[in-house]
Amino acid sequence: MGIQRKVYVTRRVPEPGIQILKAAGCELTFWDSDEAISKDELIKGINGVDALFCMLTDCIDDEVLEAAGPNLKVVSTMSVGYEHIDLKACEKRNIRVCNTPNVSTDSVAELTVALLLLTSRRLLEGVQAVKDGEWGKWKPMWLCGMELAQKTVGILGLGRIGYGVARRLKPFGVQKILYHDVCKVAYADDVGACFAEFDTLLTECDVICICCNLTPQTKHKFNKAAFEKMKSHAILVNSGRGGVIQHDHLLEALTSGEIAAAGLDVTDPEPLPKDHPLVKQHNCIVLPHMGSNTWDSRNHMSETAADNILSIFDGKTAVGLVQ
Ligand code: DGY
Repeated sequence: MGIQRKVYVTRRVPEPGIQILKAAGCELTFWDSDEAISKDELIKGINGVDALFCMLTDCIDDEVLEAAGPNLKVVSTMSVGYEHIDLKACEKRNIRVCNTPNVSTDSVAELTVALLLLTSRRLLEGVQAVKDGEWGKWKPMWLCGMELAQKTVGILGLGRIGYGVARRLKPFGVQKILYHDVCKVAYADDVGACFAEFDTLLTECDVICICCNLTPQTKHKFNKAAFEKMKSHAILVNSGRGGVIQHDHLLEALTSGEIAAAGLDVTDPEPLPKDHPLVKQHNCIVLPHMGSNTWDSRNHMSETAADNILSIFDGKTAVGLVQ
């Protein structure tokens, strides 16, 4: 029998990934809870492990890597985002970092479109009005929103998810899809999306979907100056990362009528406290970061995170190799 590799799993996760690691003979230790592990507990538990199977709520920094010790070969996050992992600190210690790309593309793209429709058609206000007994005789201008047909849609970040959103929005009869990204992408043509400068996205679009990662370049890209350039009937949807929006400035834009409405699946901070003004704002819908919350995605994320670990152990290229 070969050496038994030790894997620390920082949460209760769907079974498929666990089965893969067990079948490969790994020795597993869990933070056996649905709640996030504290840094102190993580540091206490990981000494001597070969792999860390972690979540986007775990801050994997130098202190954590130090506590793991020299056996640690791979940090495998069960998420697409990896901004919670200190890449430089991992590189310094020759530790590979992996994520779970591809497997949550459909779930997040679906949710982005759902959130856009929820926001643009004021659906939650309608549901609330019925519950509150405010549904009286038909009124011509009650709860009117905006339809997507003939509108210009902007997408910030035409990666897998942004592309999935564009593909789903096309059949709604949108007039134009513009996208902004670090560079032009060839597959944009497949969905008829045209590259635009960020300012053009702001000034021309009726709807903007944020589908990008949080990087130093995207942090607070939607700030006061950006909101001032947007159309007053524009709708902003964010399923990327909360930090792309400066939330105080968003609140101002929503209250002053600089933009019409916002739908947020991601916020800064997370969780957003229930008494946060954006939660109470009538033209803002806030969801609790549930873009990839489908069993299909979660099972595949768990499998991919486990496969990544085994690939690194075996010296193969992991599907989600970040570095
Ligand atoms: C991710 O994978 O990064 C999502 O935000 C959560 O599933």
